[in-house]
Parts: sequence; structure tokens; C-alpha cells
Amino acid sequence: MCRGGDRGAKVADPAVGAGGDGFVARERVRMGTITINGQVCEFMAGEKILDVANRVGIEIPQYCYHKGLSVPAQCRICLAQISAPNPRNDNALEPMMGGKLLPTCSTDAAEGMVVTTESEKAVANQKAVMEFLLINHPMDCPICDQAGECTLQDYSYRYGRGHSRFTDQKVKQPKKDLGKNVFIYSDRCILCTRCVRFSQEVPGTGELMIDGRGNQSQIDVFPGEPLDNPLASNVIDLCPVGALLDKDFLFTQRVWFLKKTPGIDPITASGDNIWIEHNKGKVYRFKPRTNMDINSWWITDEVRYGWKFVHSEDRLRAPQRREHGVLVESSWTRALNQAIKTLKDSSATGKSSALVVSPMLTTEEAFALTTALREVDGSIRVYLGPVPMDGEDRAFPNPSAPSGKFVMRAEKAPNARGVKRALEASGAYSGDFDAFMSAAPQLGAVVLTGNYPSDWASDRIAQAISDADLVLIDTLNSRLVEMADVVLPSATFAEKSGSFENVDGVVQHFDQSIPTQFMSKSEGQIGNDLLELARGGSLDEHPPAFGAMIVDDQPGQVAEGSDSVSLPRGELYDPAVVRASMGSLSEYFGGLKVAPESAKVESDMVMVEL
Ligand code: SF4
Ligand code: FES
Repeated sequence: MCRGGDRGAKVADPAVGAGGDGFVARERVRMGTITINGQVCEFMAGEKILDVANRVGIEIPQYCYHKGLSVPAQCRICLAQISAPNPRNDNALEPMMGGKLLPTCSTDAAEGMVVTTESEKAVANQKAVMEFLLINHPMDCPICDQAGECTLQDYSYRYGRGHSRFTDQKVKQPKKDLGKNVFIYSDRCILCTRCVRFSQEVPGTGELMIDGRGNQSQIDVFPGEPLDNPLASNVIDLCPVGALLDKDFLFTQRVWFLKKTPGIDPITASGDNIWIEHNKGKVYRFKPRTNMDINSWWITDEVRYGWKFVHSEDRLRAPQRREHGVLVESSWTRALNQAIKTLKDSSATGKSSALVVSPMLTTEEAFALTTALREVDGSIRVYLGPVPMDGEDRAFPNPSAPSGKFVMRAEKAPNARGVKRALEASGAYSGDFDAFMSAAPQLGAVVLTGNYPSDWASDRIAQAISDADLVLIDTLNSRLVEMADVVLPSATFAEKSGSFENVDGVVQHFDQSIPTQFMSKSEGQIGNDLLELARGGSLDEHPPAFGAMIVDDQPGQVAEGSDSVSLPRGELYDPAVVRASMGSLSEYFGGLKVAPESAKVESDMVMVEL
């Protein structure tokens, strides 16, 4: 984008800013060109100089600026020397403000401007700002959670002096508990005020403030008002240093061991874009992934910490089947054969069977499982599972996003629309969960899929299916396990790939992050395995590699010891193959938004060989 162009023409703006990942392209009006550090760059309507630099990849150091917040221009590290054409002097290029340094984050880009952050004066300012910020900063990088993704650390290499001239005592400040999920280590704070502005401008709760004056200033909450709003933990991501820390992630991993895989909110119907960060088969944290059309830069705490059930002690670990009235652990083959027999016996007695497909499943899995079970029992009725709701949608102001708001969704399932669409496409859709509850007393057998992040087995569900034989495909232990004739452990969102359709009808793909845990399988793989056995085949004829499947050959991707895990399977489940077989839905998947590549979490600090 650093070249001349047609003024007024519309171009794609990859929405790159602080924290941006270029996932969504938006159209902006092209206004003209400016020169930044010798590179001629197009600029768009309403862009500041720093926006242009961030978008085209020219580095200008920045702390207080964030594209999603107001612009106080207070850290002063982005200052540059700027010249602009003077219309009162025949458009001759003249230094702005008499040659004083100006903040690029708050100065509008204008035609013909020439900007430099590499002049002697600009570099002297960068060194002065870094020295000032580091005067009272503790030397605790080796034990700081932010090390490896800290802009103070990175900039001290690139813009700092390399040594300290400060010989006095550093001011020591306390560590404080700010709220449910956030600690502050005050003496690491550089007072950029991103966190204060966020709490005032987005959730609008304004719990945070600066307390004290001069070198005694520190971020704190107002008395009796803990930082506990639904978006609170976004301040952790906004903090450019290791001052605001995630209680849940603290001291669990060094960030350079983490690998990040693009994901979609697996907890609510928002479709929020996330990074799933993991190492050695274990998820450690979620971070927001910028998508200006959906979640902009933020996610709710509900989504951020919604992954904990992936590694719950309550995970169902192995298939089980009822033998002489007792539930016993089983091989996959015997459990699946018993599931097939349960459906066939119900049909033989003249009673109907039903499949309930959870809105936690991917669209492809819903289709694959339905197709497989219809081959086992051609008369099986198929229903959408319960869609949890919690009150009403909550809209928060989000002034810098195109929609002007950030919405927390009341619907607590990621894919009710996609699953319903897949069931309709399969030709077997019999209705929603209320329709299932009405039909339940007449059913002979029920295949029930769950995969909810917490215990979802209500008395109402248990009572409704108490007379039917139950094949349970679920993730967590519940009272339904005690009622089931066959229990099949299913994989969570992190252990599979596929697509979710959000509340606005946007279909988005996500990748598998970690190998399947214990002996669980994705519902899609369970469908393939059922088909194999129903057709008289054997699971053991296939290479026993599913459980140990290497998702990606990057370091940190495979669970320790997983090489020894091997589960017999039918044809390997592949969402792309299912999509290709979904005939009437091919147009629906035509607009599938493909996520960016997985990546390593890494700072851009240059590694020095010692
Ligand atoms: S705690 Fe972090 S985000 Fe808040 S003012 Fe300090 S450095 Fe900035
Ligand atoms: S980023 Fe411009 S003054 Fe802070």
C-alpha cells in the first residue's frame, strides 16, 4: 500500500492497528499520500499518521494509543518531525509547529505530509521517554508474565539507551487485587491509561482511575468498586506491560512456548473471533482476534474463560456400556455395536427412535452424525438440542468500531443456526427441543448429544426420557450417564475443526487446537465409526492413529505421551469432505470465512546469541 493511488477511490483496509491481525478487509475512501520515514503511503479518510504506519507496517513506537479507544497522546513516544505543504506559501513544504515534535497518534494524515521518526530529534525523544519510563520500573523481567510479549521490553531494545543512568532508590509500589480476574503489579505500570479509558468508554463502568500524583501515581479501583464488569479482562490485553495480569494464566506458562490457533467463540452465539493458545495438548488461555465486523478488539470474560471444561476432572474418559444392568468401561467397537443394537431393538418393537443434536456441535458434525444414524435407522427422527438462553442481549458502547457497539449474546450456544440448517439439509429435521420433549414419552430409544460446558442434564430432560433406551454422546459427567445404556465420550471444540454460524448468520471456520483428550472422539468421527460398523466393517482395519493424530508439526502441538494413544476408527472424519457432500448447502459454505494460519506467540525482539 506504500505507493501512489487514485484519490477518492475505495480500497480494502485490512484493519491493522495495535493488536490487529488483518483478518477482515473493510472499504475505506483513499484520500492521498504521505511520506513516512521515506516511504510514500496512501492514507484513508479519517486516518491519523500512526494509523497509516500501523496499516502499512512501518514501525512507530506507541504505548497509549489503541485504535479502539480515545486518543490522549500522553505517552509521547510516537512523536515525529512533520512537514506539510503550506498553501499560503505556494504549497512549499514547511515544518509544522515551527519544527516541534508532534504526536503521530493524534495528528491527522494530510496530503503531501513528510513524517520522520528517525531524525536525531525524534530518536532523542524516544530515548528520553524510554529512560523516563524505566526509572522506577523493576528489573523483574525473568519472573514477569508479560516477558516475551511486552512492548516495554521490546522497545527498550530498539529505542532505549541500553544502560541506566539512574542511581537513586526506585519507588516501590504495591501488588493489588483489582477484581475477579485481574491483579495489578503497580510498579510495572507506565500510566498509559489504556485500562482507565477502556473501563470508561466500552463497558462504561469506569471502575479504574489514577490515584496519587507524580511518581506516587498508581492505577486503582474506586473504593468498593472491584473491576468486575462482563468485559473486564480486556484490560489485561490492553496493558502494554506486565502491570495488569490474568489471575487464571499467572505463572502457568512462558508465552514463547505457546502456539496459537484461530478459533470461534465456543460458548455463546456471538461468533467472536479468538486465538486459542496452547502447549503440549493443553489450552492455557483465549485472546481476542480482531474482526471489525463481529467482535472488533474485545471478548467477554464469559468467552475468555469459557474453555475450562476442556480439561475438567469431570471429562468422560472412555466409552461405557450397560452390561447386566451395570455400566462398564468398554472398547469403542463394543460400545458402538451396542448403540446400533439399541436403535435396531427399538425399531423392532415398533417404537420410534430420536437423535437430539446439540447446538454445541459444528455444522459438519451435525450433518455427518445425522447421515450415519439415518443409515442405521431409516425412520429416526432428528431434533435440535436445547439452546440455553440467559436474559437478553447486552449492548455496550464501542465508539471506534463500525457498528458503534459490542454485544454480549444471551444465547449460550455457538451453532444453533448451523446445526438446524444441517438437519434440514439432511431431510430428517423433526423440530426443535420443545418438539422433542413432546415426542419423548413415545420414543423407544434416544441418541442424545451434549457437549455443553457445564452440567446441562435437568430434571425435565431426565424425566422425559426415563422410559427410553439412551445412547449418550457427551463430554462431562452428569446424571444422564447413570441413565444411559451406552456412553460415548465426545471431544470439545478445541479438539476438532469445523464451522459455526453465529446469531447474525455469519459462517466461520475454526481449526483443531489440541489432540482429542483421553479416549474421546469428535461427534463427526463417531458418526463415521457408526457407519463403518453398521455396514459390517471393522474399526480395526484402519490405521489406529486418530487419537495420536498430529494436528500440526510445530513444536508444542502434541500432548506428551500421546504417541502411545491409538484408537481404532472408521474413515477419518474430515469436515471438508462433509461440506463437499452437503449438496444443497454448498452455497451456504461458499461464504465461509477462513481463519488465518496458526502461529507461535512471539515477541518481535531479536534473539541474541551469547
Ligand atoms: S496498568 Fe497497564 S494499561 Fe493501565 S495504565 Fe498502567 S500500563 Fe497502562
Ligand atoms: S502513542 Fe502517541 S503519545 Fe502515546
